[in-house]
Amino acid sequence: PPALRVAVLGAGTVGTEVLRLIAQQRGDLAHRIGADLEVVGIAVRDLTRDRGEHAGAELLTEDASELVRTADLVIEVMGGIEPARSLLLDAMAHGASVVTANKALLAQDGASLYEAADIHGVDLYFEAAVAGAIPLVRPVRESLAGDRIQRVLGIVNGTTNYVLDAMTRTGASFDAALASAQELGFAEADPTADVQGHDAAAKASILASLAFHSRVRLSDVHCEGITEVSPLDIAAAARMGRTIKLLSIVERVQDDLGERISARVYPALLPDEHPLASVSEAYNAVFIEADAAGSLMFYGQGAGGAPTASAILGDVVSAARQRVRGGVGPRESRYAELEQVPLDDL
Ligand code: HSE
Repeated sequence: PPALRVAVLGAGTVGTEVLRLIAQQRGDLAHRIGADLEVVGIAVRDLTRDRGEHAGAELLTEDASELVRTADLVIEVMGGIEPARSLLLDAMAHGASVVTANKALLAQDGASLYEAADIHGVDLYFEAAVAGAIPLVRPVRESLAGDRIQRVLGIVNGTTNYVLDAMTRTGASFDAALASAQELGFAEADPTADVQGHDAAAKASILASLAFHSRVRLSDVHCEGITEVSPLDIAAAARMGRTIKLLSIVERVQDDLGERISARVYPALLPDEHPLASVSEAYNAVFIEADAAGSLMFYGQGAGGAPTASAILGDVVSAARQRVRGGVGPRESRYAELEQVPLDDL
């Protein structure tokens, strides 16, 4: 069978896991796709660091620009805005399909990427950008594309859920709970984007854009993190039969000004019996409410190397199948611009 040339940008925790899965399941994947996946290069910043057995030195390169121009499929797990954005735009301009986990980039400038995919007739998949292994992007973008989504609400950041859960269980302070989360590998060395709510806000903006066929940027999302939550807040909430959770909420709002979108992330008080109140450790859980489908619930591992790699591999199979059969997947090129609701209007 023909081989598809795969370029991988970034070889950190997620990248090495993606490479491991591709190597381990090569035969099965070739069957499912109808073509072999051949990793032709792995772009990294530091050539001297060991990336494990599936990232052989002969595949490593510092020249990501050259690599993306010769690939059929580019998997981007490097993160950050630049050079990721330029590389992905260039890859699509040269005919490659893209699978990315880059929530910050999609939240800030998803429109440029969607447009490039449309213009160049290639695929752009990003299931791993929102809530790791949990299928959320595909349901919102494809399964519910014929329905009318009213609201997406849930816990989409594992780090903050772990910290709040630890504070609730042990009475620990924010700093102590965060330190133990870092020690156990549930928080990044630099957890700023998580604890300040920006990571959850980026995911909210991606979900809102898809759910409402609109364009919601990171800066449109009202965002409040968990750094100010104290053991006293947690104890007071407990006395009222409530649990504090960092919620991401995106919804349609109908008022005198017509239909608008509200997108917000903040530590919320949930009744203890609410299903989201019992989501523990670093798990994520999300409800989607749609007119015809009713209420749907998604739950699982929203972070970590293997769960995130699982979502990426699913996208790789979809994109690779399209290349073999000569079609393209879902498009996000046309936006109905819906106005944002300022928080004080609610
Ligand atoms: N830092 C993120 C989290 C990783 O804690 O959920 C997944 O996006």
